[in-house]
Amino acid sequence: MIEIRDKTFYLQMRRSSYWFELTEHGHLRHLHYGPLLPIQDPTPLRLKYTQELSGLLIDPEDRLYSLDHLLLEYSSFGKGDFRESPLEIEWPDGRFNVDLSYAGYRHYRNSEPVSEEGDIPGDLSIDFLSLGLPAPDQEGAETLLIRLVDEFSLIAVDLIYLVYSDFDVIVRTTRVVNLGTEPFRILKQMSFMLDLPNRAFSHLTLHGLWGKEAHVSVAPLTVGTFSSGAETGTSSNQHNPGLMLLAGDESGYAYGLNIIYSGNHYTSVSLNSMNLCRVQQGLHPSRFKKTLSAGESFTVPLCIATFSDNFDNGVSQNFHDFINARLMPFAFREKPRPIVYNNWEATFFDFTEKKLLSLAKRAKSLGCELFMLDDGWFGSRDDDKRSLGDYHVNKKKFPRGLAPFYDKITGLGLEAGIWVEPEMISEDSDLYRAHPEYVLAEPGRTPATGRHQLVLDLCNPEVRDYLVKSLSELFDALPITYVKWDMNRNLSDVYSRVLGSQEDVYHQYVLGLYDVLRRVFTPRPHLMLEMCSSGGNRFDLGMLSFASLIWSSDDTDPIERLKIQEGLSYFYPPSAISNHVSSSPHQATFRTTPLSTRFNVASFGVLGYELDLDLLGPLEIKEIRDQIEFYKAHRELFQFGRFSRQKAVKKNKVIWQTVRDDRAVIGLFQTLGMALEPFDRLSVTGLEPDRFYVIETKPQRLFLERFGELIKHALPVKINPRGFAFAQLNKRYSLQDAVERYEASGKMLQNGMLLKNQFLGSYYNEEVRMLGDFGSSLYTVMPLDSL
Ligand code: DGJ
Repeated sequence: MIEIRDKTFYLQMRRSSYWFELTEHGHLRHLHYGPLLPIQDPTPLRLKYTQELSGLLIDPEDRLYSLDHLLLEYSSFGKGDFRESPLEIEWPDGRFNVDLSYAGYRHYRNSEPVSEEGDIPGDLSIDFLSLGLPAPDQEGAETLLIRLVDEFSLIAVDLIYLVYSDFDVIVRTTRVVNLGTEPFRILKQMSFMLDLPNRAFSHLTLHGLWGKEAHVSVAPLTVGTFSSGAETGTSSNQHNPGLMLLAGDESGYAYGLNIIYSGNHYTSVSLNSMNLCRVQQGLHPSRFKKTLSAGESFTVPLCIATFSDNFDNGVSQNFHDFINARLMPFAFREKPRPIVYNNWEATFFDFTEKKLLSLAKRAKSLGCELFMLDDGWFGSRDDDKRSLGDYHVNKKKFPRGLAPFYDKITGLGLEAGIWVEPEMISEDSDLYRAHPEYVLAEPGRTPATGRHQLVLDLCNPEVRDYLVKSLSELFDALPITYVKWDMNRNLSDVYSRVLGSQEDVYHQYVLGLYDVLRRVFTPRPHLMLEMCSSGGNRFDLGMLSFASLIWSSDDTDPIERLKIQEGLSYFYPPSAISNHVSSSPHQATFRTTPLSTRFNVASFGVLGYELDLDLLGPLEIKEIRDQIEFYKAHRELFQFGRFSRQKAVKKNKVIWQTVRDDRAVIGLFQTLGMALEPFDRLSVTGLEPDRFYVIETKPQRLFLERFGELIKHALPVKINPRGFAFAQLNKRYSLQDAVERYEASGKMLQNGMLLKNQFLGSYYNEEVRMLGDFGSSLYTVMPLDSL
């Protein structure tokens, strides 16, 4: 709900409030972003000064009013606010001062102007779709548009707020309008700015690289500026755009911010010596400019902000609910994601149709639901050096073409998917030979390559039309329901031959990409889209406006994935996080991990398999069948449940839980084991306190190879643990990992229960929890009265 009283703007949500007011000098003063407060006189919330300030005065008569000491709703530059400005404008003569004052507002409910309200004439509403910007559905949202104007320079800045009460979410963006006759250049235009009095904040962001995406970084906010951003042309695995601010006091206050965008982005948090904190987010200002002629306007990508007083998990849950319900493609909201078998790590480029069909049959018999044919099916693509752009079938691998292969896949009762990398082109490709001008590169300069490939110029409408046509034809000719869209290098040598000016070429590339995605996938709502960019190089909200899930990382080692998936969970829902069980030792880390842990980690999100199924032993086959059956029984919990990260008191533990409809699954993961591990406590939150539940360990096999020489003592027969006989035995015989089962009230579960001891170095028995290095268990919780 938005209420406006005496030029105070009250944005009231289910559990949070956001307030600001007009000052006597025409600026907007930020008052409150925090828990829901009843509407009232905001005086107690104002920053108060009773003495003359050391800053600059805009009115010599008012010696207590200085912009540098105010909490502002949006700032500009030139009148004494010396904090980082969210807006930089330059006129042809080089001048840059902008002095914005409040001019009026419009209030919209369900996109209709609220009658009798608002004091700016005309319809100022914005159609994000027609601007090519991804935006959440506005169902249930109220919109507030505040117009700020510099009458001297004839520039307007519209602050736009979409208020989603049910989700405790505010989506913000800004539009700059040239009201004059002289053109000017926007050098920086942030979508979001927020001034807050500091609460000993820390900032949390995600950083990494290929294979180690989304590692969490938390640091206390200190005087100065912390900034994080990407200039790779993607949202990037180096610095994801999500930001949290976490209060260091006891309040539990936490703020989340994330831009709905897939290109260069910028976020900063600064603190000045008066303990005032400023956060801003938007398009990265480096290598970006936008010239606006008379009457023209420019709207930047939208940002999602949310608040919770339930620490970081509260913020994550707000993000998850909102993304699932308002941002993701309509046809796939709350739609169960299938269990995919993907052939990539099993075969890489080296496969035949026969091999794929063998994998598909095995996948089907295990319970997988969809066969995803990855890279290498087209052109002469037997390695990564060629053929991107030539999406016609590789006749050596599929002598009778693709359609008969896919018919066989669907004939097995599997759905089918296909891999493409449409934004890229190999120099060794028919497309490049025919159209070298399709490449994003400066004419005459040799462009850098990444994975032997160049980038197509998506600013060029001809290239976009070509992609839309060729992809549409490809997809329509096959009985597929799933597409994996890959993108395996960052942008370099960025220059488009078709743009008159290169000033916003990076942004135009991203808008071009959105245009292609919209034209290909909107008319084909039966196609579920999995985004991928060398793993998680483009894990962002822009992509999630088109895709139902994103491949998180090429690093499928479950212990590495604990960090990656946990990092992503801060900002993105489990329904979007694509995880596969792969082989052990892992092909990138050489770490040996139990099959149970590979599944237990991958199940928190969207489960798939990606190992060579033809190499599995009979027991592994049984184990995977059981895993898939278990996942299917709890799929909604894993994909759409209320996910939270539990604070593990022990350094060698990671604990996750997901709750839905008063049922839960908890994952307890051990990174490195230790000798004589002290007791483990497991708690479950978010259940009804007085209801009774059964908590039970998910049964899983304990493969004999885990025991090493200890097996001599655990088995009734003496056997050489390095011998052939043992290897055979290991394939066919296993022990059952310890299962615990308790009945307890929700309150007791919240308090935590003490688990049976882990192996203490001798005297193995069946009730001992055998975790060791990289061991893990899942626990299910069901209401007693439902059993
Ligand atoms: C990178 C992706 O992350 C992998 O899953 C796989 O699709 C390869 N590209 C194929 O080239």
